[in-house]
Amino acid sequence: MANTFLNGSNILFTQSEIEQRVNEIAAQISIDYRGANLLVVGILKGAFMFFADLIRKINLELTIDFIAAQSYIKDASTGNVRLLYDPLVDLSGKDVLLVEDIIDTGLTMSKIIDIIKKKSPHSLKICALLDKSERRVVDVGIDYIGFKIPNSFIVGYGLDYEGRYRNLPDIKVLVSEDND
Ligand code: IMP
Ligand code: MG
Repeated sequence: MANTFLNGSNILFTQSEIEQRVNEIAAQISIDYRGANLLVVGILKGAFMFFADLIRKINLELTIDFIAAQSYIKDASTGNVRLLYDPLVDLSGKDVLLVEDIIDTGLTMSKIIDIIKKKSPHSLKICALLDKSERRVVDVGIDYIGFKIPNSFIVGYGLDYEGRYRNLPDIKVLVSEDND
């Protein structure tokens, strides 16, 4: 995928479709976590936009933190997951909700789940905006899913290709010029 381009015709989800789905998930989370000690943990960088929109719509007292994980070189999953930032020291009594942009092979999420479980939170659930389940290598139970998507490479709304396109407000399919 050396040369890539984006045009107007490859939108998968528009801003307003995303907003509507985020509102629905936030409403469900607001019901499910009533009375809980909710800590919402965003997985950087990809989840930052979804995370910011989601927590603004959760109608509960909560705290936030982030984890930074790196698993990708260009658009091929390496299977190697490195934690670049892990501030989650004391999770006892915390109801942790992990927020991720996309679950693809599941390797990143399963590694992060292992790390967090060792810190013995009161509960742990997973929220992912996008689920590319066709590509799954390890099983990951996702409690809240935004959209199930086919096996193509997605950018925008926080998701990148080689660091670009994170700022796009819509979710788009990346098209390779090499395919023409
Ligand atoms: P996994 O470990 O294969 O599940 O990959 C998860 C990570 O890979 C996500 O957190 C994303 O950062 C990245 N990723 C997977 N698929 C895509 C995609 O289609 N577009 C952009 N990033 C992706
Ligand atoms: Mg990511």
